[in-house]
Amino acid sequence: MCGIVGYTGPQSAVTPLIEGLRRLEYRGYDSAGIALGTSDKLFVEKKAGKLSNLESALGSVPAVHSGIGHTRWATHGGPTDRNAHPHLDNEGKLAVIHNGIIENYSELKAELEKHGHKFQSETDTESVAHLLSDLRKEHNGNLTIAMREAVKRLRGSFTLLAVHADQPDLIVGVRRNSPLVVGLGDGENFMASDVAAFIEYTKRAVELGQDEVVTITPTSISITDLEGNALKPREYQITWDAEAAQKGGYPHFMLKEIFEQPKAVADTLLGRMIDGRISLDELNLSDAELKSLQKIVVLACGTAYHAGLVAKYAIEKWAHIPVEVELASEFRYRDPIVDKNTLVIAISQSGETMDTLMALRHAKEFGARVLAVCNTNSSTIPRESDAVIYTHAGPEIAVASTKALLTQIVATFLIGLHLAEVRGSLNSSQVSEIYNEMLELPSKLEQILETVEPLRELTRKFTEKNTVLFLGRHVGFPVALEGALKLKELAYIHAEGFAGGELKHGPIALIEEGTPVIAIVPNTHEHGLDEKMLSNIQEVRARGAKVIAIASEGIEIPGAAHIIRIPNSPQMLQPVLATVPLQVFAYEMACARGTDVDQPRNLAKSVTVE
Ligand code: G6P
Repeated sequence: MCGIVGYTGPQSAVTPLIEGLRRLEYRGYDSAGIALGTSDKLFVEKKAGKLSNLESALGSVPAVHSGIGHTRWATHGGPTDRNAHPHLDNEGKLAVIHNGIIENYSELKAELEKHGHKFQSETDTESVAHLLSDLRKEHNGNLTIAMREAVKRLRGSFTLLAVHADQPDLIVGVRRNSPLVVGLGDGENFMASDVAAFIEYTKRAVELGQDEVVTITPTSISITDLEGNALKPREYQITWDAEAAQKGGYPHFMLKEIFEQPKAVADTLLGRMIDGRISLDELNLSDAELKSLQKIVVLACGTAYHAGLVAKYAIEKWAHIPVEVELASEFRYRDPIVDKNTLVIAISQSGETMDTLMALRHAKEFGARVLAVCNTNSSTIPRESDAVIYTHAGPEIAVASTKALLTQIVATFLIGLHLAEVRGSLNSSQVSEIYNEMLELPSKLEQILETVEPLRELTRKFTEKNTVLFLGRHVGFPVALEGALKLKELAYIHAEGFAGGELKHGPIALIEEGTPVIAIVPNTHEHGLDEKMLSNIQEVRARGAKVIAIASEGIEIPGAAHIIRIPNSPQMLQPVLATVPLQVFAYEMACARGTDVDQPRNLAKSVTVE
């Protein structure tokens, strides 16, 4: 986590730095700081709390043309002014910002203190500032070589940017397991954790690999490996537009992103059926390889994990392949039974989640093929995968994920249909029928969003509640989990999602008079699913629960205090629709309780530490 931005060019650097930080604040908001490259000494300001605190503290800022900025999600050292980045060497001439964790910082610190360095903060990062300072002196003031040598001594994960007052328009960066992209402007260059920081200025970006050191000036970029061998910049075009990263008249990014879901789903489906067959050319696996697959393992965290849970139902039903869905943070500590006949699907909006990245590396060690489902172009997870299916949700800025989830579900459905087609478990008319139903989803989502007003009013009745339970069966179970997660993240309410069948094995004890229970009513009579949920509703109601049912039109729900209607769809596709009212519920609850919708406490959007 933590957001990093660097600028060098003709503009007064404070403007692109602060704007960049605003776009990166989703990555952490415990503190913010900048260092500007004035010659002789750096100008540094840093403040605990949100970026707005830094902005208020910035008095008259020197009109200089380069600098670095940081927004922090605290790991080592509390969220104070002193622990805020940038961190300086003892002369105040070299500044460093960092995203990640330097695992061997205590040994470095002890060694540097022996050599007379005085530390000001409790962070792991400060050791890099002191180390770089010594190494720069050893290498005749060459900051690039100093960075290469410093990195050889570091363990952990990091993106680092450094500037020195003696060469203020030169910025050096490096990455290992944390993100960094370069933006190529006209007479100006940028570095940032995410392209969102600079898309207003340029659409030309350069991706950086592991342990690559990059040096930018206003007119040049050079990349080397740690031995100093020059590497060719790998340039790509950014497809997101600057407007997509703005609120566009909505009070919060989250609400805007909820309303963007019909388009996001439509874009993810676009062009995916050609001549009656699912078209997933990027899959990079031959039909023979797809036929020989014996197992799929889905790896993901948070909301993306819930997409994986939905995918399991669909892929197993359509393609008849066993699917295991694993929390990435747990998978990597196991001795998993995966081999070359296993397809690992790593789902990640950001493409940078450290737990997912480490889990996919672990799976690769066992010979598995890895397919990423990702929303962020050229991020680390797709780069380290054998193939990638990009979701087309556009930039998701609110910390709580919404449109990314829906597109992840749709992308995994496409994978399931393609596998079914190739393996012959569904015939082409069955595949087309399901695909055509998926094409209806965007207009059904529009319908839900046009009728959310009563739900918004209804939510206000529950704002004083401290516990909300969610019940689902089949694909409604992951929806229940996601509904609970959204409410926890946004409104800080204790919320739990349960499988309807598990109710009687414990959770029912939580019900008391007035406890809100949100039940996702299945769309099918198959296996008696709908009836079983109706019985669950009766069971909780009999114990005093206030039931809010999410159900398709036409289904009667005796015992429900409120019914939120969603359009009909086949059961497998229902999660795409049923999730939306739960997002709105959590959003409204957060607004009513006055919490910070886009930047909930203690969270960060892209979790690049383990
Ligand atoms: C964080 C975010 C969640 C997200 C999860 C996985 O916890 O707050 O919203 O679902 O990371 O992120 P990813 O980028 O891998 O999908």
